[in-house]
Amino acid sequence: MTAKDINGKAIAESIRARVKEQVSQRVAAGKMPPGLATVLVGENPASQVYVRNKQKACAEAGIRSFGHELPADASQQQVEDLICELNMNPNVHGILVQLPLPGHLDEEKVLNTISLDKDVDGFHPINIGRLAQKGREPLFVPCTPAGVMYMLEQELPTLEGVNAVVLGRSNIVGMPVALLLVRANATVTICHSRTRDLPDVVRQADVLVAAVGRAQMVKKEWVKPGAVVIDVGINRIADPTHPKGSRLVGDVDYAGVREVAGAITPVPGGVGPMTIAMLLQNTLHAAELYDKKAN
Ligand code: GUN
Repeated sequence: MTAKDINGKAIAESIRARVKEQVSQRVAAGKMPPGLATVLVGENPASQVYVRNKQKACAEAGIRSFGHELPADASQQQVEDLICELNMNPNVHGILVQLPLPGHLDEEKVLNTISLDKDVDGFHPINIGRLAQKGREPLFVPCTPAGVMYMLEQELPTLEGVNAVVLGRSNIVGMPVALLLVRANATVTICHSRTRDLPDVVRQADVLVAAVGRAQMVKKEWVKPGAVVIDVGINRIADPTHPKGSRLVGDVDYAGVREVAGAITPVPGGVGPMTIAMLLQNTLHAAELYDKKAN
């Protein structure tokens, strides 16, 4: 059996088109266009590309974006002062601080400074705390995890009772994905670098989310036939046959695993585009929250 490809690019495009339509309806009704402030500290090339792509996607959806760049040696105070300014700015409905921050900055304190109503990344400790608690609702769900769940919900009639294995426990993806899967009533196992008998654990998965940042780590033999495999990894590997001398691959050995899985996300073109689509959706939601508060 060859797995079905889950086309994240197409799914993301449909979400982006919907957001764009809703933004234009808002503006036609005399409301402010949603505004997203991006904060980039330092010159990490991957972060620069991600932020640029987010700004471009905003422009295409009719969302205003306000780019802020601080030098790599910016102080904690400088970063927090900028965020406080953005918290007060009525044109800014969402604030995104691109991670990782340079090592001398206290990430938790920075994220804590973002106004809860503008936390479109969903990384504020209160939003994450609410995500982890029964009967509580975060104002925003982190973008990549939200994108993963959207794809799974399209693929499976229900997640109730399914064995879901999450490979990786990062604050940005692994842990919030696991929390969302629990909320969807899946039976969730979180694997990490200390997990014993990893292939055996992974083989129990009806749903596998790989988010460890290790190129092509998940092999065909690790995957239960028919499983739905979501590959969050973006790793660059050398490839002399490629014009650039390198190419992007996921955490899953795509060619092998697609021979046994039921469905799989490719890299690129799988989860990546979903992150941006969810950010646009969250920014629109932030603008709607702002309207409600103002009225
Ligand atoms: N770095 C990697 N992924 C993300 C993300 O979704 N949001 C932010 N702010 N930084 C990231």
